[in-house]
Amino acid sequence: MSEAYIVEAVRTATGKKKGRLSNLHPVDLGAVVVDELVDRTGIATDAVDDVIFGVVNQIGAQASNLGRGVSMSSKLDLCVPGTSVDRQCGSSLQAIQFGAQAVMSGTQDVIISGGVEAMSTVEIGSNVRDGLANGRGTPKGERLEAQYPGIQFSQFDGAELLAEKYDIGRSELDSFALTSHKRATNATQNGFFKKEVVPINIKLEDGSIDVHNIDEGIRMDASLEGLQGLNVLREDGVITAGSASQISDGAAAVLIANEEGVKRHGLTVRARIHSLAVVGSDPVIMLEGPIPATQKVLQKAGLKIEDIDLYEVNEAFGSVPLAWAKAIGADLSKLNVNGGAQALGHPLGATGAKLMTTLLHELERRGGRYGLLAICEGGGTANAMIIERLGSGD
Ligand SMILES: CC(C)(COP(=O)(O)OP(=O)(O)OC[C@H]1O[C@@H](n2cnc3c(N)ncnc32)[C@H](O)[C@@H]1OP(=O)(O)O)[C@@H](O)C(=O)NCCC(=O)NCCS
Repeated sequence: MSEAYIVEAVRTATGKKKGRLSNLHPVDLGAVVVDELVDRTGIATDAVDDVIFGVVNQIGAQASNLGRGVSMSSKLDLCVPGTSVDRQCGSSLQAIQFGAQAVMSGTQDVIISGGVEAMSTVEIGSNVRDGLANGRGTPKGERLEAQYPGIQFSQFDGAELLAEKYDIGRSELDSFALTSHKRATNATQNGFFKKEVVPINIKLEDGSIDVHNIDEGIRMDASLEGLQGLNVLREDGVITAGSASQISDGAAAVLIANEEGVKRHGLTVRARIHSLAVVGSDPVIMLEGPIPATQKVLQKAGLKIEDIDLYEVNEAFGSVPLAWAKAIGADLSKLNVNGGAQALGHPLGATGAKLMTTLLHELERRGGRYGLLAICEGGGTANAMIIERLGSGD
């Protein structure tokens, strides 16, 4: 089996709901990060074997195989195809997994895997609501209804159930949300994200052009008092808007190649995809999957959690990484060191590739060796991946 190498990884700075990226079409947003990969790596525009893009709400502007729309809208030649993946919030981590497996198998040599979500335009759950409103049914068939009678699978309920199960209270959540904003602020102010972010020219309301290169959702003035004052989302619950991931727009992509692709195109490798895993877990608690996914990926890698230098565990809600850290026995000082989705946003389909981009660049900045990434997903599935840094990124 061949190795799967990461050659480059880039992301847009996220835009907040109805914010600076909200007028950009998701396909164009995806093309921005693909073009950047082409420019940075110098890969020939006909040399990519596939563009695999994660996108969750595949309706409206994100319908009709967004991945192909991205490949056609980018600098890549028309001979480069494109496809779209829905693994819910882990869609683009799954896209990276598919890309890695393709090059590991040797059936393809160079893949661009990434993801996009324009949540301002295509609202979360809009595909399900459209089905209900227009007589197209719901995703829950008779067999699932028989197994989970009357239960609406909800990430908000899952976040609360997880907090309860792992004994995570409001004060722990508020202080973790504050840490997320503080770390994101620190990373932004010290330029840690500069290399991974593709600046985008955006048109402002007055017609002038501005550069979007800073994650828009970060509250640089976040305070514990502000977080403590927020209402809980569920009666008797502990989660607030502050301890939930933000609705955002964004895109990210990674160029993956095997030895053959690297040699043929003169590419420089930055990391190798060491181990990967995907699991299913209880769809009602829904967000617990990163725990078994991490256990599985560590076991496959023959590594212990102490061997890992940095982890990115998506802050879909604050209770997810906190429960994960308790169950895994992980060191909180290595977790989401530049902040997470509570501060930086969670553009669903883009998040896996976004976190991978940050993980790679931060491993390089710190000179770390192993990075682990895990994401919870609707339906109770979860992806996890371990990468091993090989280069310096210079
Ligand atoms: C939680 C959620 C519903 C909140 O949406 P929203 O109400 O539009 O969010 P806002 O950003 O307007 O925040 C609500 C309020 O909290 C305040 N707030 C949010 N974060 C804050 C913080 N860190 N500190 C202080 N105040 C904060 C906002 O200022 C706002 O106050 P206002 O009502 O006085 O204007 C939305 O972010 C959400 O759905 N998140 C989860 C997305 C999701 O499910 N993703 C998939 C994961 S599985």
